[in-house]
Amino acid sequence: MKGELLLLSSVIFLLRVVCGCPTRCHCHSPSRAVDCSRQGLAEIPPDLPPQTLTLHLQDNQIHQLPAFAFRSVPHLRTLNLYNNSLSDLAPGVFHGLQHLQVLNLTQNSLHSLESRLFHSLPQLRELDLSSNNISHLPISLGKPWENLTVFAIQQNQLQQLDRELLESMPNVRLLFLKDNLWKCNCHLLSLKLWLEKFIYKEYQDKERSMRLHDKRRR
Ligand SMILES: *[C@@H]1O[C@H](CO)[C@@H](O)[C@H](O)[C@H]1NC(C)=O
Ligand SMILES: *[C@@H]1O[C@H](CO)[C@@H](O)[C@H](O)[C@H]1NC(C)=O
Ligand SMILES: *[C@@H]1O[C@H](CO)[C@@H](O)[C@H](O)[C@H]1NC(C)=O
Repeated sequence: MKGELLLLSSVIFLLRVVCGCPTRCHCHSPSRAVDCSRQGLAEIPPDLPPQTLTLHLQDNQIHQLPAFAFRSVPHLRTLNLYNNSLSDLAPGVFHGLQHLQVLNLTQNSLHSLESRLFHSLPQLRELDLSSNNISHLPISLGKPWENLTVFAIQQNQLQQLDRELLESMPNVRLLFLKDNLWKCNCHLLSLKLWLEKFIYKEYQDKERSMRLHDKRRR
């Protein structure tokens, strides 16, 4: 009898581990989304379902993340950390997130970023760093960030942006740069040249697709 009870309680425990949802979150199984927003959380809930694809942690008070913080959710595609209190990110925080496509860090207190930080995110498509206190970005990311199409760094404290960094995002389509402390000097000139090329490329792409469109119509 005792043995059976023990077995039963371990099965229940296992079920809760496998199918459970952290107490302060809502889990939507069909989309594999977990919503832990606005819960006054200071850290990431420890018992996230391992199959999670979307994790909403916005509007909390998370001010620090350890290395491998998201180890328990390796399939994550979208991570929203909007409106938390992060002031710096340890290298290795995002380790293991091989499939992450959207990372939203808007409205935190970040002041600088290391290039190593994003090395572990090969699939990243959208990175939003708006409304932080970033005054410093790495000069380059080491290797091209082929999959990045959206890069937002508006409302920060940047005075310059290196051309090399932008060149490491060959497929970027949307750039949000406004409301920084841009300093008008030679550094900014290289950004200006890059932007001119970027706008021209964009224009050519449009022309090309219009021409294709015309051909099809004929
Ligand atoms: C940010 O989150 C806090 C809760 O931690 C909330 O009270 C506040 O309204 C949020 N701010 C914005 C701009 O959404
Ligand atoms: C990040 O979150 C903010 C606030 O919800 C939103 O305005 C912004 O579009 C998001 N960025 C991306 C890249 O999804
Ligand atoms: C970009 O994403 C594709 C799959 O979507 C992946 O095969 C490729 O390795 C990624 N690029 C980089 C530089 O990792």
